[in-house]
Amino acid sequence: AKDRLIMAFESSADETSVAIVRNGSEIVSLETATQIKSHQRFGGIVPEVASRHHIEQVTILAQAALEDAQVTYDDLDAVAVTQGPGLVGALLIGVTAAKTIAWAHNLPIVPVIHLAGHISAANFVEPIQYPALALMVSGGHTELVLMREEYDYLVIGDTRDDAAGEAYDKVGRTMGLKYPSGKIIDDMAHQGTDTYNLPRAMLNEDNFDFSFSGIKSAVINLMHNAEQRGETIDLDDLASSFQAAVVEILVGKAQRALEAYPVKSFIVAGGVAANRGLRDALASMMQRFPDTEYIPVPIALAGDNAAMIGAEGDIAYRHGARAGLDLNANPALEF
Ligand code: KG4
Ligand code: ZN
Repeated sequence: AKDRLIMAFESSADETSVAIVRNGSEIVSLETATQIKSHQRFGGIVPEVASRHHIEQVTILAQAALEDAQVTYDDLDAVAVTQGPGLVGALLIGVTAAKTIAWAHNLPIVPVIHLAGHISAANFVEPIQYPALALMVSGGHTELVLMREEYDYLVIGDTRDDAAGEAYDKVGRTMGLKYPSGKIIDDMAHQGTDTYNLPRAMLNEDNFDFSFSGIKSAVINLMHNAEQRGETIDLDDLASSFQAAVVEILVGKAQRALEAYPVKSFIVAGGVAANRGLRDALASMMQRFPDTEYIPVPIALAGDNAAMIGAEGDIAYRHGARAGLDLNANPALEF
């Protein structure tokens, strides 16, 4: 069969990214511009600033992706783009770029759900076998997703409040760390020990849902009380305690889901999947499931990037997903 070559665009948050992906499983080129520095002093993403950066970068990155892959628009089979969820103004830049290229070069447009993209990045490691289960942990989402077959996504567990990455970023802010704080807390956690006893909300409840706002509040109270008493908090120990609680909840719920739904592949994906504590704890938990292949998305592809949109774009393309030139960004898109 002929190779499929898909050009993919991602612009849902603070990374502008363009990739060319072959057969959904091979990254031919990947160009990403991060805007983190521009948002850092505000302690989070400023939507207008994000949109402007996306506009400035997207055509440059598209050109670079073609050059690096040594292909032209004529070699492409389709253009895939993140339709949502994300910031509407940011999404619109990627959607407009993809539509323009599709119109100019007569290519089909394949709309992609950002969250599915995170999961399908597992195909760069090895082909996902179905049925499969994914723990999707990012800055905006924390979900357990069951895939009974390819391109069939069923959310069986979700967060009731904050996403795991959001909890990392909010706790980091309280601790006076830079945005985003996930990686910083992960590094600090490895320097400290789990000495502060933080709550594990919903861990023993018989469902696949999560809640992280309680841990966040517990950390804020702990720091506030210590300040009032003139006590000092060991921030490495606090990071370690926080990470231990988050990891225990994520791993506990993933295990519960794996017991309820025997699957061939188990994937951990999304920005928080870069967390070393989480990866290690999942690897040891997975020894209980010898018939399930554990596929952690590579750390370099865990955060937002266009390669993952190309991987999911290839799946969506094969399943016939197409959009017209009236495609609009959908900031609240769900599975
Ligand atoms: O998937 P992503 O790049 O963007 C969204 O779609 O949200 O995820 C970003 C999130 C941020 O909250 C960031 O703090 C978190 O992923 N993150 C981490 C780590 N690296 C990034 N959280 C914990 N440990 C890490 N090593
Ligand atoms: Zn993401």
